[in-house]
Amino acid sequence: MSKQTRILRANAAAIAEAAGVLRAGGLAAFPTETVYGLGARADDPRAVASLYAAKGRPSFNPLIAHVRDIDIAKRLGSFSDAAISLAGALWPGPLTLVVKAEKDCAVCELARAGLDTVAIRMPAHEVARALLAAVDFPIVAPSANRSGHVSPTTAQHVADDLSGKIDLILDDGASKGGIESAIVDFSGGTPRLLRSGGIARAEIEEITGPLAAVSKHEISAPGMMTSHYAPRARLRLDVASVNADEALLAFGSRHLEGVRNARKVLNLSPAGDLTEAASNLYAYLRELDASGARAIAVAPVPGEGLGEAIRDRLSRAAAPK
Ligand code: TXA
Ligand code: MG
Repeated sequence: MSKQTRILRANAAAIAEAAGVLRAGGLAAFPTETVYGLGARADDPRAVASLYAAKGRPSFNPLIAHVRDIDIAKRLGSFSDAAISLAGALWPGPLTLVVKAEKDCAVCELARAGLDTVAIRMPAHEVARALLAAVDFPIVAPSANRSGHVSPTTAQHVADDLSGKIDLILDDGASKGGIESAIVDFSGGTPRLLRSGGIARAEIEEITGPLAAVSKHEISAPGMMTSHYAPRARLRLDVASVNADEALLAFGSRHLEGVRNARKVLNLSPAGDLTEAASNLYAYLRELDASGARAIAVAPVPGEGLGEAIRDRLSRAAAPK
């Protein structure tokens, strides 16, 4: 059954309307400082089931619960002192914590994929915060794209992927961060970085100390599945030259052989700025994909700071589907 998806400029009236949609068990996409999220009320398994269906997301892949403050977070999961320190320092912001779920956790089991842990994030974006303030439940929100596809950084990207499947999209322009939250797992011993993201590892480690490594084969964050964030075109990474019939995703000012052959060229950041590159990454992947090129050649991006998350997403987008 197809829904009439409305895109509303995110003013107070539209936010109230989105809150009403969520309250009634519907699906509303909203901007965050990382990427656009697809929201459903976390305490309603029917709403969560329809969210999985709209995205085509395997239901063994758990969701992040978004909350408006740390007290609500503490009702959902059990926070160690270390977890509280990290949240206290970096929330609101592009950081998700995985903790053991409390017994009466308001995030339903389906949203947690049956795990005994829960992923929680307090977003910084004004519209996300206003939406959370307007409801009395946590909002689960995966990135608002078809499962496996590139994450959305504009309302139009959301509409391109999910029009007809969701009720409403709050439009507040392009996401500033452009790359998903970093996920730190506090549910075991030493905290681990499950997903690099919008806060650089070094900034987190300043507070937590060295984060433990996660094995390549670990699937506790299925967003870590190898093929993910993928455009249609094949990606070729760390190229030194561009082949005929390829589009080029450039970075910085380094000259590459064969640039003239490129079907289309977009530069993540001509100045070599990783924050700018993160914010452009997904929109540029979508745009180069739409050029119809057979493959997208990607210039080398350094791995420090936000470059760790950028390289992570690029290698997943390049993985065989
Ligand atoms: O920036 C973000 O985090 C965005 C915005 C909308 O907030 N959300 C987002 O959600 O990226 P999603 O669903 O695309 O990615 C959530 C990731 C998945 O990789 C999932 O496996 C992992 O979080 N995750 C959720 N709950 C988990 C848990 N209990 N243990 C381990 N990983 C978990
Ligand atoms: Mg996602």
